[in-house]
Amino acid sequence: MHRLLDDASRRAQRYLNELDARPVFPSEVMRARLHELGGPLPEEPTPPGDVLALLDEVASPATVASAGRRYYGFVTGGALPATVAASWLATAWDQNCFTAMMSPAVAAIEQVTLGWLLEVLGLPREAGGAFVTGATMANLAGLAAARRAVLARAGWDVDEDGLQGGPRVRVVVGAEVHSTLRKALGILGLGRSAVQVVPVDAQGRLRADALPALDGPTIVCLQAGNVNSGAFDPAAEVCAAAHAAGAWVHVDGAFGLWAAACPARAHLARGFADADSWATDAHKWLNVPYDSGLVFVRDAVALRGALSISAPYLQQGAPREPGDFTPESSRRARAVEVWAALRSLGSRGLAELIERNCRQAQRFAARLSAAGAAILNDVVLNQLVVSFGDEARNRAVLARITADGTCWCGPTVWRGRAAMRISVSSWATTDADVERSIDAILASAEGCDAT
Ligand SMILES: Cc1ncc(COP(=O)(O)O)c(C=O)c1O
Repeated sequence: MHRLLDDASRRAQRYLNELDARPVFPSEVMRARLHELGGPLPEEPTPPGDVLALLDEVASPATVASAGRRYYGFVTGGALPATVAASWLATAWDQNCFTAMMSPAVAAIEQVTLGWLLEVLGLPREAGGAFVTGATMANLAGLAAARRAVLARAGWDVDEDGLQGGPRVRVVVGAEVHSTLRKALGILGLGRSAVQVVPVDAQGRLRADALPALDGPTIVCLQAGNVNSGAFDPAAEVCAAAHAAGAWVHVDGAFGLWAAACPARAHLARGFADADSWATDAHKWLNVPYDSGLVFVRDAVALRGALSISAPYLQQGAPREPGDFTPESSRRARAVEVWAALRSLGSRGLAELIERNCRQAQRFAARLSAAGAAILNDVVLNQLVVSFGDEARNRAVLARITADGTCWCGPTVWRGRAAMRISVSSWATTDADVERSIDAILASAEGCDAT
């Protein structure tokens, strides 16, 4: 074990050290050996050192360098050094975090970390919360609590009796709702499309003036951080109207909710703390390894009621049983990495990380627009939507950026226009990386003109 873990550490260090010098997206040559991981399952055992060597030699070169400094695809954080190290240690612990008795250490870490999270995100201190795989599951968990609560107010017990025969739950979303929230609604039997869609403004913000009249069991879904523009829905106005009508407000804040942790950007998240449930990710802007999402519900009883189970052999009884609040039962100790991120950054370091990435996004916008590209959104956060022309030209520029390998950006369509997304979300991205990436992007665009 000793030699194996030393070998793993050496290989991981070499991988991280080499990230800066390799193409961000692996070339065809780098991916050419992936088939060597397959073939028939060997009948005989393979020594662990050989297994690791095969994985490293074949798969490491074929990975996307999203742990590096110049990956701007989707909304992808890196992994802070303390979180990688803590993750290795927690893997060695191999704790099952279902109940406090199964892992008193992780139950304690969860409790402490939830308190810190509520503080930095500016959410109600009494809220309950849980560590899930990502914002998709966090949306599912938050909406499960919402569904339960609004139906209970209408005299219906959805946990025991299900949805059939019960009052209809009205779900209101903005036209720019994230597709994963619709998926969560589908899983919960509320329907991906059986929603009332509110029009949005030019930045993708739900228009509060276009909210329908709300009555009966109702869930209103808000977004903190549009996946393209980074825009925030008008939370204060919507929460006031929804609560006056007895509705529940759920927030999908996969990355945008972290604006609340940064004094210079906290105004963007104003009003979101008035909601009833919140979903966010730690693997995006908190820069912990995948998979790591967070759900919070103001009324902890609603979350617990929707998701807890009991059985005599489980011997639950701790003041907070971790498994009472999550859709899963057995699960890994992902709170350890969240704890490590917060402990290593401190609230000041976290605020600086958020602000630095926002500033870097503005730098992208300034230089790209000065060079003639169209910036299609107001760059208020870490997101940028850039267009170099029509769809074919944007596609050609993106292909050149990928082939050049200095950085990676993804495609999108924003308000009917083909464009490119840049999301600056990594702790590791330096200002020099941003300048180097802009040079590479502009050279790619010029290269397209020359052909
Ligand atoms: C606004 C929003 N909601 C939900 C998600 C889904 O997050 P995850 O993939 O972590 O489940 C994303 C991912 O980008 C997002 O931007």
